[in-house]
Amino acid sequence: MISYARQTQEAQPEAAPPPVEEHIAPAPRVSVQAFCETVETAAAVQAAGEDRRLGKAHLKIQMGGMPAAIEAYRSAPTPNVIVLESDGRSDLLSGLDQLATVCDAGTRVVVIGRINDVMLYRELVRRGVSDYVLAPVGAIDVVRSICNLFSAPEAKAVGRIIAVVGAKGGVGASTISHNVAWAIARDLAMDAVVADLDLAFGTAGLDYNQDPPQGIADAVFSPDRVDTAFIDRLLSKCTDHLSLLAAPATLDRVYDFGTDAFDAVFDTLRSTMPCIVLDVPHQWSGWTKRALIGADDILIVAAPDLANLRNTKNLVDLLKAARPNDRPPLYCLNQVGVPKRPEIAATEFAKAIESQPVVSIPFEPQIFGSAANNGQMIAEISANHKSIEMFLQIAQRLTGRSETKKQKSSLLSPLIEKLRGK
Ligand SMILES: Nc1ncnc2c1ncn2[C@@H]1O[C@H](COP(=O)(O)OP(=O)(O)O)[C@@H](O)[C@H]1O
Ligand SMILES: [Mg+2]
Repeated sequence: MISYARQTQEAQPEAAPPPVEEHIAPAPRVSVQAFCETVETAAAVQAAGEDRRLGKAHLKIQMGGMPAAIEAYRSAPTPNVIVLESDGRSDLLSGLDQLATVCDAGTRVVVIGRINDVMLYRELVRRGVSDYVLAPVGAIDVVRSICNLFSAPEAKAVGRIIAVVGAKGGVGASTISHNVAWAIARDLAMDAVVADLDLAFGTAGLDYNQDPPQGIADAVFSPDRVDTAFIDRLLSKCTDHLSLLAAPATLDRVYDFGTDAFDAVFDTLRSTMPCIVLDVPHQWSGWTKRALIGADDILIVAAPDLANLRNTKNLVDLLKAARPNDRPPLYCLNQVGVPKRPEIAATEFAKAIESQPVVSIPFEPQIFGSAANNGQMIAEISANHKSIEMFLQIAQRLTGRSETKKQKSSLLSPLIEKLRGK
């Protein structure tokens, strides 16, 4: 169905990345054929086809608009989606009528047009057009339109994947990912799962004090068995809203994975879990690169030294280039203020990376050490520690949500407010 609100938005020729609150779920393996009239639209559709969310879709683009489409499908079967660019009004409607006679059932039609008019929308809806996007379009508009055709109306449940990775080993990426996931579950009250992708050495099980008999290895080593029920059995529950897909952390097997080894696991988690936090080990391989590029949002954790700065810069540059229609990755500094250690200042990082760190977390060996050794989160050890506010800040930036829980201060507060008013 066409949503009128969307079309009346100001068209954005320079398509900005979608705001963080907007979540566009990736499209499944579908075929899409576009018939464009202008090179600008063809370029936008082409760029959309390179977006990570259309990575599984097969996209073919040709020029010629409606006449070319009608001609093409006289003899050939229609794809899952036809994208049609149209400038004129009358030939659009009669063209659609003609197209309907050659269209297979189930084929969805998206129209890109220049006319912003309610009567036209009504006519298009009546003809079963799935979406009308107002030109000029940016790549993200095309991505959004195609992806939305395949996300269920209750798409809120479709999960957002957050990948956390260290710019170097040992910088605290796992610690931060676990504490941030904990904040997402507790303070934002979102159902979240932590997937520990460091199969040999992962510490999520230790940090959450869980010792599940099975975990992520069972899923990656038998991808054809992976479905929601199967994954559900592998999850261990940490808190009300938080589950863990633990790493085996055993060395009897080696973990040389193919590039798409985790696809089935991620897709399945995404279909049921609102928030998936990937604890990505510090390594550069086909599957870690794919996990980062395919994530909805990315947090890079860096310690304040030169190697971290270089690696953060390289990661940010690569990820920005590979994800032109997404927000740039976020980064934070950790282990800041180690006594006697020369450090690179946050301002220097900001200059080189061209963005500010979300937070700078101080080096606090006492409390972080106790947390790690006791299998507890920082907030469980010290409810008012200053890093807790920072984990929450990261959680909010990554999810686009603000806090839901803390406001329920007191039953009496409305009454107190009233009395104050008097
Ligand atoms: N801000 C911090 N202050 C002190 N120690 C920290 C801090 N952050 C993490 N650590 C410690 O650093 C070590 C490495 O952390 P870890 O999360 O395993 O790093 P990574 O996943 O990046 O390899 C752990 O012992 C952890 O407790
Ligand atoms: Mg780690």
